[in-house]
Formats: sequence, structure tokens, C-alpha cells
Amino acid sequence: MKETKIAPSVLSADFSKMGEEVKSLEACGADLVHCDVMDGVFVNNITFGIKMVEDLRKCTALPLDCHLMIVHPEKYVGRFAKAGADIVTVHYEACGETLKSTLELIRAAGAKCGAVINPDTPAEKIADVLPLCDMVLVMSVFPGFGGQKFIGETLENVRFLRNFAAEHGLSYDIEIDGGITPENAGRVREAGANVLVAGSAVFRAPDRRAVISALKGK
Ligand code: DX5
Ligand code: ZN
Repeated sequence: MKETKIAPSVLSADFSKMGEEVKSLEACGADLVHCDVMDGVFVNNITFGIKMVEDLRKCTALPLDCHLMIVHPEKYVGRFAKAGADIVTVHYEACGETLKSTLELIRAAGAKCGAVINPDTPAEKIADVLPLCDMVLVMSVFPGFGGQKFIGETLENVRFLRNFAAEHGLSYDIEIDGGITPENAGRVREAGANVLVAGSAVFRAPDRRAVISALKGK
């Protein structure tokens, strides 16, 4: 089984001191920095874009995991990769027919690539692109906001992806995002997710280091 990695989402950080926040995550045992990019069109919220990724790149050696919740991601993935994103993930629901070619664009730009599915999208829908993915992101809330309640049914998607990888000899990471807490992390890891995103659970905690180890089950 793969080692569990924690990717705190800076969506719940204090945007006025993003550099310090990211350094604190690094000191507290985070494995990746999850960057939620929202355009106000694909989701009903707006966050930040390429410039933030470029500036965060200077503040941390941790991999920057960029979750693009934007329409027409194919227009921007190359620039996110160039800005320093290590992993760029794009939504099946935003790409439709262009999912495969968008993943290829990310790869060609030198970053790792991944597909994301919303809670109401069965993982079977992306079966054809799974051999291309370094990571698959299963949303366990509808994207747009931090602090929402975990949707347990989405673990079916995690189980499907874990079995599919075993059956087809694939080694993509399975990331889960939304409502993850130390209380449900055990179930989520058991289902087969090995990269856990946590926004509010980490940023609202008085002891970030303790929450990150609890999420890892340590
Ligand atoms: C939701 C974002 C998540 C979110 C997670 O659209 O993709 O990454 O920040 O936040 P929590 O852990 O608070 O649900
Ligand atoms: Zn996210």
C-alpha cells in the first residue's frame, strides 16, 4: 500500500500572509500544498491564479498540487506548469471531450497530470484516461467552498479507482478532497485514497502538526 500523504488546501489559509502559511505547513509535516484555483464560472467562487502559484513556488520546496476549477482549463494548464505547479488536475466536468488532450498538454508542459471527478460523476466515466493519469482526484464535496460536510458515497469512486489500478497494473495516486477530518480519515485511507486534502481541518486547528499526523493515522 502507498504511504499516505497530506495536502493541506491553502483555500482556508489567510491570503494576506500566504508565504508564511505555506512555510508553516512545511514545518508541520505537510507533503504537498493543495492550491484551489476557482474562476467564478465553473464554481461559484473566485480564488487566485497563475501569479499566486509563481509566488508560492519561491516560498516552498513542497510539491504544488494545483486543482483547477475553471472552464477551458486547456487554455491555462501550460502556464500553471510553467509557473511551478508540480501537479495540475482538471475536472472531467469542465473538459468533456478534451479531457485526454488537456492531460497530454499538462504532461507536455512538464508537470504531472490528473483528472478530477465531482461527487455525482461515476469514476467509470474517466476509465479511458486513467492510464494517462499520475493522480486521480475524487471530490468528496461539490467544489467551490471549504468547510463542507464529507459525502460518504464518494468512497465508491475511490474503491473503483483502487480496484481499476490493481486490475490494470496502474500506479496513479488517489487523492480525495472535501470535508476530510481526523474522524473520517481512517475510512478514506481504507477505501484506497493515499493523498488526503484538508483545508479547514488543518487551518482551524490550534496544532496543525497534530492534525496532519492524525490524518496520516499516526
Ligand atoms: C473545494 C476545494 C477543497 C477545499 C477543501 O472546492 O477543492 O480543496 O478547500 O476544504 P475542506 O477540507 O475544508 O473541505
Ligand atoms: Zn481542491
